[in-house]
Amino acid sequence: MGWQIARMKKLILSGILISICSVSFAQKRISRESMRKLVTADLEFSVQQYKSLIHILPPGEMLKTYDAATGKLITSDSEWWCSGFYPGTLWYLYEYSGDTALKREAEKRMTIIKGEAFNSGNHDLGFKIFCSFGNAYRITKQQQYKETILTAAKSLASRYRPTIKSIQSWDSSAMYKCPVIIDNLMNLELLEWSSKNGGESRLGEIAVNHANTTMKNHFRPDFSSYHLIDYDLSTGKVMRKITRQGAADSSAWSRGQAWGLYGYTMMYRFTKNRRYLSQAKHIAKFILNHPHLPADKIPYWDFDAPGIPNTYRDASAAAVMASAFLELGRYTKGQLRIQYIATAEKIIQTLSSPLYLAKLGTNGGFLLKHSVGALPFRSEVDVPLTYADYYFVEALIRYKNWYLKGTRKV
Ligand code: GLY
Repeated sequence: MGWQIARMKKLILSGILISICSVSFAQKRISRESMRKLVTADLEFSVQQYKSLIHILPPGEMLKTYDAATGKLITSDSEWWCSGFYPGTLWYLYEYSGDTALKREAEKRMTIIKGEAFNSGNHDLGFKIFCSFGNAYRITKQQQYKETILTAAKSLASRYRPTIKSIQSWDSSAMYKCPVIIDNLMNLELLEWSSKNGGESRLGEIAVNHANTTMKNHFRPDFSSYHLIDYDLSTGKVMRKITRQGAADSSAWSRGQAWGLYGYTMMYRFTKNRRYLSQAKHIAKFILNHPHLPADKIPYWDFDAPGIPNTYRDASAAAVMASAFLELGRYTKGQLRIQYIATAEKIIQTLSSPLYLAKLGTNGGFLLKHSVGALPFRSEVDVPLTYADYYFVEALIRYKNWYLKGTRKV
């Protein structure tokens, strides 16, 4: 009898605690109406800003970043891993606004990158082709876009190495034997989608194998991830666990953590394998409980960056996280769901402030300021980046479609 009373007391106490937590989360939440206004204003601004960008970006070139000191737009060729983000952002904004100028520009720029579907020289096919052609097909259902996606998936699959059960990110070089970076998880969306939309089923098997190998070798006991695992191609053994873009081999490079969060959430969407959901939740926990995550939820460029708090934030990592948290919120219930959505709301709110969001006609036509590409190389530090804009707009669209329709469930 005694133990039953004790158990009852414990249950009541934990119930009270849960209620207190939900009240405090609820109190911190931005109201639905404020979020509606914010998201609408951001999307309206994004449409106008990208319409101005159409006239700034030289023909035949793709978008990279902007150098505020010289007022110069920095562009890229089609081969750069980011060449699909500009058309992808245009598609999202066309989907929102119905403005055909955005669609025409997306179609024009996609002719420049279409040939990348055959480029099996590295793993970036998902970033380049799925963010652009994937959105184009989703919105227009034009067969030609699907063909390009399936070609790209085949090219990516050619980099699969059965000995390591992973897709090799970059070719062997003097520096690496068989490098696989955490970012590579993002390319699995191309494979998963293709395997379910007319491509071979082995594409899905490759994606699953890659996700499982990454889960085994890239993650530390606290669910932070290494950036780069270098494998021995002949034996499949892990040679080194290192970084390229992070502060140290042992550090948690922020965008890498964001790719992991997004990657496993996306893999759960396709496979419904609960191991992926659980992995995404563990990564979320690492990010959300990290003492270096600022209250405004925009991470420093590396969770272990030297000099915190006097170092750069990375708006691109924040944008990827916001988009991923919004999806993870759909697959979870109760307090976790509230926490994920509230975090994405906070990120969107911070990125919408004048500190991060550009004014119309400034910032070289980019939406967001203050991202970090690769600090160890002093490359793209504290600048606008095309992928920060892409995932920011994706998060806005996701928020609008998933959380502003119907009656609020959280
Ligand atoms: N995939 C390269 C990066 O995240 O910087």
